[in-house]
Amino acid sequence: MRIVLVGFGVVSRSFADIIHTQASALSKDHGIRPRVVGIVDSRGAATSADGIDIQTALRSKEATGTLNELGANIYTEGKGALDVIREVDCEVVIEATPSELTRGEPGLSHVRTAMKEGRHVICVNKGPLALAMPALMELANHNDVKFKFSGTVGGGTPVLDLAKKCLEGCSINSIRGILNGTCNYILTKMTSEGVEMKDALAEAQKLGYAEADPTADVGGFDSACKLVITSNYVLGTSLSIKDVDITGITGVTKEDIASAEADAKALKLIGFVGDKARVAPEQVPVTHPLNVSGTFNAITFDTDPAGEITLVGKGAGGRETASSVLRDLIEIRKDFAR
Ligand code: HSE
Repeated sequence: MRIVLVGFGVVSRSFADIIHTQASALSKDHGIRPRVVGIVDSRGAATSADGIDIQTALRSKEATGTLNELGANIYTEGKGALDVIREVDCEVVIEATPSELTRGEPGLSHVRTAMKEGRHVICVNKGPLALAMPALMELANHNDVKFKFSGTVGGGTPVLDLAKKCLEGCSINSIRGILNGTCNYILTKMTSEGVEMKDALAEAQKLGYAEADPTADVGGFDSACKLVITSNYVLGTSLSIKDVDITGITGVTKEDIASAEADAKALKLIGFVGDKARVAPEQVPVTHPLNVSGTFNAITFDTDPAGEITLVGKGAGGRETASSVLRDLIEIRKDFAR
């Protein structure tokens, strides 16, 4: 399978590393031989029909911040994603540029162009989905391509597919969850170690959990994106981020945390969709399965007749999220085979 990676940040690089190091297992177990024929970052693009040497690309990016060590035959400074998506023959485009939540760009144009060119799309970027998910699903259908986005919610935790595929036959009344690893990391550090919010955020940024613009995390917007994506995919709604009431954690004080603790509760940033959609800090009983720590995400589906089902897993991190991208790729491969 020929793949173009658009965006070469933490998730893309982890994905490239995984498909490189696990090449023989992927071939043996899943019949997939991924070949990366294009990599685009903010500075330029590398393309090669024979496949780009992943180790050199990773080393170059690490050492110089660019892909120029791949050589002038392969790397072109200033070459943009849209040209690569149009010109390079490939089956799958992986959109992993930073999420932008006002216009969804440039990711939205990348996704649209890829679909119109007949490429299957795996999107890790939440912006296009938070703003235009119903239209993109329609466009994918129209162009007869697969559109996968498992990595947008829950990092490596299969939140979307658990609800969609494993809860068939149940009705889901509401969804309540901790959807942002960075905020949960910050609130956990403030609660258990008395760390200041700004210091905990700086740690989360250093560890690669936070968004390129971390106000998306602490402002609650990232959680709202994930709520919209989950609701649309699982409940069949047509929400956009504009439909969500959003309060982030920037106003949370040590007193708020202490007051929750005094009632045997923990303060968490919760996304909820049921009769309405909202994101806000809430007190959760310490004994409830939603009371997870660090970068864990937890999501409770209130179902009928199975009752409450809570899924817990790492919600952020390059390798974790890359595992979702790989799952999507395997699914696309299976769909091909069918
Ligand atoms: N910044 C996001 C988070 C990354 O902290 O959850 C995963 O979407």
